[in-house]
Amino acid sequence: MNTVAPHIVVAIDGPAASGKSSVARELARRLGFVYVNSGAIYRAVTWHMLRKGVEITQSDAVATEVASAELVCDLVNRESRVRIDGLDPSAHLREPAVNACVSSVSSIPLVREKVGAKLRWYANDCDVVVEGRDIGSVVFPAATRKFYVDASPDVRLKRRAAERQHDQIAARDQADASRQTAPLVIARDARVIDTSNLTIDEVVGLILKHVPHRV
Ligand code: CDP
Repeated sequence: MNTVAPHIVVAIDGPAASGKSSVARELARRLGFVYVNSGAIYRAVTWHMLRKGVEITQSDAVATEVASAELVCDLVNRESRVRIDGLDPSAHLREPAVNACVSSVSSIPLVREKVGAKLRWYANDCDVVVEGRDIGSVVFPAATRKFYVDASPDVRLKRRAAERQHDQIAARDQADASRQTAPLVIARDARVIDTSNLTIDEVVGLILKHVPHRV
């Protein structure tokens, strides 16, 4: 008989600047779970494409490049970390060019397959909080703790502006929600949390009511 307890997956999905990264990281810290930022992996792949001069609009060229790229995902201080072809992309993940191209790159099925496999790998060994766009709907459809965090467009714009980022979030949301493969959707069994008027602590508190604590 298999006596290994299945690992817990907490899925946190939502649109750009909805607060999901801050919430997911703090939630993972309080639970003692590993924190996995799937957007950072899509951003790393996008940065790689830009660095290699791949024409982003040519999906075949992106697919060919991603197939041969060495994408290494591991953990540092219980948080996901990505390296690609031996390089650390972390300083580049929020560059305007990456913001502008990431929706296009992440819409390509082969990119999603490769990143999805890495995300599932994290949950093989540890309890995880994973944030993204399709975590509850596609990557971990059997997860029993799914949350969709949202905020009004106005609040989200202000949050991104406060980070001094050049990022067309409305265009990115539109592209993410309308793509064919794994679009941004509210999973059927997800709890929706509007974070517009809530602090990070308040959102984490709400989520913790639905997630078992490990002592
Ligand atoms: O931080 P922010 O919410 O602005 O974005 P992110 O989580 O870093 O994700 C960047 C982009 O990666 C998104 O706009 C999506 O195009 C893509 N993404 C995705 O397709 N699927 C995921 N699970 C996570 C991110």
